[in-house]
Amino acid sequence: MSALITLKGVSKSFPNGEAMIDALRNVDFELHPGELVALTGRSGSGKSTLLNVCGGIDRADVGAVDVAGRSLVSATPTELAEIRRDHLGIVFQQLNLIPSLTAAENVALPLELGGERVRSARSKADEALASVGLGDRPDHFPDQLSGGERQRVAIARAIVGTKRIILADEPTGALDERSGDQILELLRAQADAGLAVLIVTHDRALAGLADRVVDLRDGAISSVVERPGVDLELTELWS
Ligand SMILES: Nc1ncnc2c1ncn2[C@@H]1O[C@H](COP(=O)(O)OP(=O)(O)O)[C@@H](O)[C@H]1O
Ligand SMILES: [Mg+2]
Repeated sequence: MSALITLKGVSKSFPNGEAMIDALRNVDFELHPGELVALTGRSGSGKSTLLNVCGGIDRADVGAVDVAGRSLVSATPTELAEIRRDHLGIVFQQLNLIPSLTAAENVALPLELGGERVRSARSKADEALASVGLGDRPDHFPDQLSGGERQRVAIARAIVGTKRIILADEPTGALDERSGDQILELLRAQADAGLAVLIVTHDRALAGLADRVVDLRDGAISSVVERPGVDLELTELWS
């Protein structure tokens, strides 16, 4: 299947005092429908920058960035906003849920801001909440939910409507192990349902769940491991 995200020869630097830091160096990357890809690497290796370039939050200095068949590099700010609204579900590290809105209202909000009628937005929000296992909690407020449940609401809000891509930066970072595992399994299920999922994570549980683990070092891709879980089992068979 054709890629939903394609990066070719992408570089990105940030000013650091007088000097520049090369956050990404000549990165080629593809993300396909149905795939769960994990980005790993040390702190400062460029993981968040890569995710942000895919999401149109950071602009590449050099190279091509295509999302759902459209170039982010040549997009105007309005077009960029449109591409993000139609295709990209982004789960931020700080979840940004609005405390005075219920789970369903939080999830429906981006649709309503996009001009959708309240009733139709609400029914899509209920669907999205059901798909993250929160079908029974639409009327709870964020402070009535556990950390893992709040993370699910943030994921539901990211994928509500017809989004086909999820980008999540360390979505399990603030959770205990069990809730973290549930979030990873949920993201795996979204990929199995056909979405393209890219996450930054150090979580070891991911080895068995990711289709690909892409490791960054100093802004460049240093290794790519396909189906790490399967490899792991093979290694065990041979040892
Ligand atoms: N907005 C920014 N301004 C200046 N430097 C930045 C900015 N964002 C990232 N960097 C630098 O780029 C490098 C890569 O950062 P980042 O992508 O956040 O790494 P990671 O997510 O792997 O920890 C780091 O050296 C970081 O300090
Ligand atoms: Mg980061």
